[in-house]
Amino acid sequence: MNMSTKVIIGAQWGDEGKAKIIDILSEEADVVIRSQGGNNAGHTVTVNDEVYKFHLVPSGILYPGTSCIVGNGVVIDPKGILEEITNLHNKGIATDSLKISLRAHLVMPYHKVLDGIKEEYRGNSDIGTTKKGIGPCYMDKAERSGIRVCDYLNFEVFESKVRENVKIKNSIIKNVYEQDVQFDADEIIKEYSEYLEELKKYFADTTVLAHEAIVSNKKVLFEGAQGTLLDIDLGTYPYVTSSHPITGGVCVGAGVGPTMIDECIGVMKGYVTRVGKGPFPTELFDETGDKIRDIGHEFGTTTGRPRRCGWFDAVIGKFAVRTSGLTSIALNKIDVLANIDKVKICVAYKKGEEILPEFPASLEELAKCEPVYEEMEGWGEISHIRSYDELPETAKAYVSRVEELCGAKVTMIGVGPNRDQNIYVN
Ligand code: GDP
Ligand code: IMO
Ligand code: MG
Repeated sequence: MNMSTKVIIGAQWGDEGKAKIIDILSEEADVVIRSQGGNNAGHTVTVNDEVYKFHLVPSGILYPGTSCIVGNGVVIDPKGILEEITNLHNKGIATDSLKISLRAHLVMPYHKVLDGIKEEYRGNSDIGTTKKGIGPCYMDKAERSGIRVCDYLNFEVFESKVRENVKIKNSIIKNVYEQDVQFDADEIIKEYSEYLEELKKYFADTTVLAHEAIVSNKKVLFEGAQGTLLDIDLGTYPYVTSSHPITGGVCVGAGVGPTMIDECIGVMKGYVTRVGKGPFPTELFDETGDKIRDIGHEFGTTTGRPRRCGWFDAVIGKFAVRTSGLTSIALNKIDVLANIDKVKICVAYKKGEEILPEFPASLEELAKCEPVYEEMEGWGEISHIRSYDELPETAKAYVSRVEELCGAKVTMIGVGPNRDQNIYVN
């Protein structure tokens, strides 16, 4: 077999520019598959200064020859995906090639409300979720009470599952959280039937489609959502999402075996951002942080919240390379660091006198860590540059240091949001 499958994941806290990389690679790809997360993801693609924002639809949809799959590990808000499809149609983009897994779980109205209520209940220890109902939906999946896409095709099953869930959720909302909101099962059944009827033509056993594409040597891309440190097992728990954004999540979430994966590309930014709460060792609270946020337009694609910004953290980079078996790095947004005299990279963490060799598991330990920085010379404007050789020596040195510290080659460098603002490194 001469397979060509590439997994693209976020190697930081999300928003690394994964969609831009997917879009660039999609020109040559036959299939793009999402395998986890839901519409908490906000994926931006810019083509000739026109901006497209994706939440559930894979970012390969702009190419007419590329099929797009929403896999079994994704949690689907039917209203959300219909809105996205309509927006695409309004822009003249066809979605005939879209397929939605029969095994994917549905985000229900009570999931979204519970997401908000739980956040409020947590008070100061809130996670800062996107309030899209993602956590509560994955909770039901793990608890085995969730509702799947295929349930809709057997209406009696669908109806009875909605009724059962509404009964329990209403009771939890009223008796545990002491809130007034109550759901009406009939209304939900009616509303969701309309959405799902419209979406029915996209339903498929996507595991079969993925397998067929791979064994017939089609070029397949797996589009990660969120990022390594938001992984429910490996991230900064509990300040994480409820799925597996690391490469390992792809096999489960798309229903393909690990032997089917050729390459694992980790997307990083030349600095780090984080939306929502949780630890962030290299976070900047000064003018440089503000400058990066302004120039990098670091505001959430899904929620519009300002993203917290900080220096590149190679401890995290190394952790991502190790936990995802990354074969290469796509390093985006180094253009945003232009005209900063001295650029810093965090090379290790220091806890008192002790140097920590790896990213710690415990948040209490992480809180005691100070970043150890290395300073490097900055560079000027680079957004017009399209070849590695033309990059300033200082920018090349920065890229090399990222490679050395993280332990994987940088094969793509982003110098702007547009599709063509990318440099391939041999
Ligand atoms: P994703 O969630 O990982 O797909 O990333 P987002 O789309 O949420 O955020 C990345 C933002 O950076 C988007 O607005 C992109 O258009 C933009 N972007 C991606 N790559 C580059 C780059 O190399 N330079 C600059 N300046 N912007 C970039
Ligand atoms: P993309 O795919 C950045 C963050 C939220 C919050 C935490 C939990 O665009 O990179 P959730 O709603 O998932 O329960 O929120 O995860 N988060 C993201 N941060 N990029 C994302 O996706 C994110 N998806 C979720 O801000 O801190
Ligand atoms: Mg995003």
